[in-house]
Order: sequence, then structure tokens, then C-alpha cells
Amino acid sequence: MPGPNPPSPVPDRSEWLDRLEHDVALDLAESVRERGEVLDRLETCFPAYPDPATARRVEALRARFEAVDRRLAAGLRADLRAGRGRERLLRLAATSGAVRGDHYDHLDDLVAGLLQLEAPAAVPEPEAEMVFYQPTPARHVFDLVARLALGAGDVFVDLGSGLGHVPMLVGLCTDARATGIEWQPAYVERARAAAAALQLQRVVFVQQDARAADLSTGTVFYLYTPFTGSILRAVLDALRVEAGKRPIRVCSYGPCTHVLAREPWLASPEPVEADRIALFGPCIG
Ligand SMILES: C[S@@+](CC[C@H](N)C(=O)[O-])C[C@H]1O[C@@H](n2cnc3c(N)ncnc32)[C@H](O)[C@@H]1O
Repeated sequence: MPGPNPPSPVPDRSEWLDRLEHDVALDLAESVRERGEVLDRLETCFPAYPDPATARRVEALRARFEAVDRRLAAGLRADLRAGRGRERLLRLAATSGAVRGDHYDHLDDLVAGLLQLEAPAAVPEPEAEMVFYQPTPARHVFDLVARLALGAGDVFVDLGSGLGHVPMLVGLCTDARATGIEWQPAYVERARAAAAALQLQRVVFVQQDARAADLSTGTVFYLYTPFTGSILRAVLDALRVEAGKRPIRVCSYGPCTHVLAREPWLASPEPVEADRIALFGPCIG
């Protein structure tokens, strides 16, 4: 069967491609958000079978913008490995648009290039009440880092850390120590390798069920709905015990936030929103 007919060239789209081909501002490393938006639009505006000439133009633009992004990530990675680059990373993080929403954007692509995380080919099925790996969108992590104002005395603990980008970004953006607790050994192995390659000495990963974790040094705990039901109950009870010994903060994203919001020992200083990381501190009074 013949495939679908290529669509006839659309004049305003051709004009748009023309503008992109001459827009040198898009080659500036810091135009990362604009490039991300253009790459998304190239994907959605051009159907799978454009005419060959248009397909070549789209492909050339895509290759050009992806190469700029790759150079940006590689340069930033080299700087961060050498202990520099935090300010630049934070400036790039500030190019995020609206924080809310569970979509991924250009910052996820930047972080992927920066941390070079590689997912294992396969991991065992999670056990009952354990949630499979899904990364927190990078802009939410940067938003959290800005709101927490972590210092050198803080220990940030990601309970169910997956491939580990949250503790690694905390380590890169702040002077705090960061720990990832993760049940799946293959994720821990990849996270450790990525942190070692970046020489992140304040970031460690522990392969463990969060129910068995030593929570005694943490000052801030993060949960992106890593587990549900009795596991979540057991871990929240363990956190409540820690909160009885010293002030801690707990942050959450995803459906588990509803459970945390009902905990009588936790209070949020701001309205809890479904599509933004929620912050909780001790309930006073
Ligand atoms: C939704 S992902 C969140 C990953 C990461 N925290 C983030 O925000 O990008 C949940 C992670 O929790 C891990 N997990 C599930 N149950 C666990 C448990 N009992 N102990 C430790 N990790 C667990 C899963 O393997 C998965 O990697």
C-alpha cells in the first residue's frame, strides 16, 4: 500500500523555517529555553512525511539546535566537575517557565546531558505498594532547591531516589549533603557511577528499602510518591519519630502529598498544590 501523500508545503511554515535558519540568537548557549520550544514545535508542526526539501531543512535545524545543547551540557559538565559552574547552572535553571504541571521540558534535556544518566536495560518488577521509577521534572527540583535554601549543615534525603538526579542536583546547586535511598540495585549502581563521574563527594546512594533506612541524619526528606499503603505508613511513622527528636522538613510530589497533608504532625506554611512540590514542617501548637 502506498504511504500517505506528503503534505504540500505551507507558505507560513516555510517562512518560519526561513526565520529560524537566520536566527543567530538561537545559537547562543543561554537561549536553551527558546531552542527547546523550537525543537518541540518542529516536532509538532511538521508531519511525519513532509516533502523531501522541507524534511531536509527541518532535520538541519534540529541537528543544529541539538548540537548547541550538547555543547552547552558538555561545557557545564566540565565546569561542574572542576567545582565551578554552579552559578551558571542556577541561571540556566531560572529559564524555566511556569513551574506547575507534570510535563517535562528543556531543563530535563539539559539535566540529562549534564548528569549523563543511563537507565538500565531492565529492572525487576516493583513489589506490591512500591511505585515504579519516574523522574521528578527538573524544573520542580530547581524550584524546590530555591525554596528550601539549604545550607552546609543540611542533609537532604530522597526516599526512593531512582537514577538519582534529585540528590545530584541538590549537591550541585547547594552546599548541603544529599543521600538517595533506592530499593532497585540497578538504579543505585547507575546513580553512583554518575555521581562519581561528576566528582560529587557530598552525594551518596544507599541501596535499601526505605523502611529500613537510617533517617537519623536527615534534615530534609523528599518523596515523589515512591510507595503507597503500608510502606508509606511505615516510613511516615519513622519520619514522625525523627521529627520528635529534631526539626525536620518533609517535601512531596505526586499523589502521596494528599496523605502527607493529613498527617497531624506536619503543617505546610503555604497552600498545598497538586502540581508543585509541597513543603511541610513541624506542626506547632
Ligand atoms: C516515582 S520514582 C521517584 C524517583 C525520584 N525520587 C525522583 O523524584 O525523580 C519512585 C522510586 O522509588 C523507588 N522505591 C519504591 N519503593 C521503594 C522502597 N520501599 N524503598 C526504596 N525505594 C523504593 C522506586 O524504585 C523508584 O525508583
